[in-house]
Amino acid sequence: MNKRKILVTSALPYANGSIHLGHLVEYIQTDIWVRFQKMLAHEVHYVCADDTHGTPVMLRADKEGITPEQLISRMWHEHKADFDGFHVDFDNYYTTDSPENQEFCEDIYRQLEAANLIAQRSVEQFYDPVKKMFLPDRYIKGECPNCHTSDQYGDSCEACGATYSPIDLINPYSAVSGAKPERRASKHYFFRLSDPRCKAFLKEWVFESLPSQSDVSLEMKPRLQPEAANKMNEWLSGGLADWDISRDAPYFGFPIPGTAGKKFFYVWLDAPVGYFGSFRNYFKKKGQSQAEIDEFLRPGGETEMVHFIGKDILYFHALFWPAMLKFSGYRTPTQIYAHGFLTVNGQKMSKSRGTFITAESYLKQGLNPEWLRYYYAAKLNDAMEDIDLNFNDFIARVNSDLIGKYINIASRCSGFINKRFDGKLTDAISEPNRKWFNQFLFCQLGEGDTFLGRHVSIANFYDRREYGKAIKEIMLAADIANQYVDRMKPWELAKNRKDDAELHEICSVTLNMFRILTIYLKPVLPKLAADAERFLGVNSLTWKDANSQNRLLADGHQINDYKHLITRVDPEQIEKLVKINQESLQPATQPSPITQDVQTMEKNSPILPQEEENARGSKAMITIDDFARIDLRVAKIIEAEEVEGADKLLKLTLDLGSEQRTVFAGIKSAYNPDQLKGRMTIMVANLAPRKMKFGISDGMVLAAGDGNDGPYLLAPDEGALPGMRAK
Ligand code: MSP
Ligand code: ZN
Repeated sequence: MNKRKILVTSALPYANGSIHLGHLVEYIQTDIWVRFQKMLAHEVHYVCADDTHGTPVMLRADKEGITPEQLISRMWHEHKADFDGFHVDFDNYYTTDSPENQEFCEDIYRQLEAANLIAQRSVEQFYDPVKKMFLPDRYIKGECPNCHTSDQYGDSCEACGATYSPIDLINPYSAVSGAKPERRASKHYFFRLSDPRCKAFLKEWVFESLPSQSDVSLEMKPRLQPEAANKMNEWLSGGLADWDISRDAPYFGFPIPGTAGKKFFYVWLDAPVGYFGSFRNYFKKKGQSQAEIDEFLRPGGETEMVHFIGKDILYFHALFWPAMLKFSGYRTPTQIYAHGFLTVNGQKMSKSRGTFITAESYLKQGLNPEWLRYYYAAKLNDAMEDIDLNFNDFIARVNSDLIGKYINIASRCSGFINKRFDGKLTDAISEPNRKWFNQFLFCQLGEGDTFLGRHVSIANFYDRREYGKAIKEIMLAADIANQYVDRMKPWELAKNRKDDAELHEICSVTLNMFRILTIYLKPVLPKLAADAERFLGVNSLTWKDANSQNRLLADGHQINDYKHLITRVDPEQIEKLVKINQESLQPATQPSPITQDVQTMEKNSPILPQEEENARGSKAMITIDDFARIDLRVAKIIEAEEVEGADKLLKLTLDLGSEQRTVFAGIKSAYNPDQLKGRMTIMVANLAPRKMKFGISDGMVLAAGDGNDGPYLLAPDEGALPGMRAK
């Protein structure tokens, strides 16, 4: 067998946000591929790391009163726990804030400089005179030049959707300090992507096909998926602009050599280099030599380097990254596999709908990570298409396929083997049962007599990232196994001792089918497969075990007691999960601008998927539509009374113009009922009524406070009338 040597990466998640189900599409997709290749006995090294540098991390640490190093260390542990929880099995999970990474960055920079591919130019940018730093576009806010909505970001307006440059904002201010930003010029360093050498190289690199290195598919494979290659064509024919790779101090990142600590590498320069940093760290730890490291990182070798990424970061990986590598003497990527984005129930993930689900909450709620792995596998293909997590479909699929089809096979036959045959299998299989087994093992190609081992066609699908097709094929095989049991009715045979031999045969064949299915599913369901291996009494299964001439376990092979291997999804679990991820819409919980998600802020990608849930991983930002769901009304307090037995509450009767409402408000500590009568305030009029000990509270009045001081009831300016809407 031709042994492949592959360095595999997934994109490095931002240290600034939590891992969510969207991210997991990528890490699960990659992990399945890696596990599959390892089952084929290829040499695979799967490395990843946290992407730690940049303004968002710096400012967030600042806000939390800790150092960036402390912040990224905390996040690293969170991320690692999430990945472990979903069985994403990196060979090394590292950080971009590492000495290895710094060394590679400096070397690459120096080589590019020597190749005359670094330029310096003055760039004018907004500067925060209070915070004493240049501000990325997303940190400038102001009035939209188009629709005049206030508090809009420097790159686009959330109210009208207009995009513009921060210079166009009316009355701009810094989202960090609130100060009026100044325009200041500063020297920036550029990677000269406009150099004709870059374009010439990229053109050749993109459209060069690669001989297949795989045993399972013989076709030539393109370097990029067709959709990605089209994008590249567009970019290349549009002409390439130089790439600004520097940021001014203060910046959390690596200083650019020779700039006296004044300039830093832009985070997107050091992030992909982090793949190399993680790989070298891993090989060093394993005691591998420099030559062995170079075999993967320098050109000329037989090794492959495969990047799994989301479609939003194609630009960085298919333009900048290969060009950078090419002209600094490193190997360029063999293949880039871009996937689409996750939608939930047909819509982009949303905090208000509770579909922005963190990996941690999924695990904490006790949902089985392998359910999600299976579901994603069933939906994934090799295209750059978005994939949808539909909860009903999720429940139906997991329950009917995993439990109803796969696990069922083991549970239907193990009892007979254990009770009647001392847990021992037979391999003396007569012709009719053999036939069934063969039908299970092979699929017919077309009409004729040509058959293909299912393990070959399934392997092909895995290798090409057509996981959905692999799962379909596997479930076809599971259907055959179940039909076989249905037809043979072992429970009938069990009634009659004279049928023991037949019963033994049938249950043995069935458990052998279960074993083969376990091999097929193992890349997707590593934990379940390990449990199944224990039950079957077999060593860790590899792909070869589905391939060997005699696919039956030996005569007398001993299995173990069957213990329930996996439970069904209960729809209530999903409801709960959505609920705990549902963000409270109360204004009091809104964070200040700099704690919001700033992940996309560093991205500046020309192909950001439109309107990605107002910044991915967003902690608590809502859209104008979310806000519009809250019906805020001016209300007049026409009655205020103490409530017997309640030491914090006052009972308020509110006039909304067209109706009256009763609301219990926790403001007794600060107000006498008498003071309140006749006052105007603001209430949430569409809050679901809440049943309390003292009666039903039908809405909520707004008051400000910080726990120590307050609450202070909000009031509209003079002139506002009961029932007027606040927006
Ligand atoms: N830090 C950069 C990558 C640097 S790689 C040198 C980054 N980080 S990220 O945390 O925003 O995203 C990590 C990966 O997860 C990216 O490949 C991204 O496309 C993917 N996804 C993030 N949200 C996603 C969905 N909602 N759906 C599918 N994939 C998603 O980008
Ligand atoms: Zn606007």
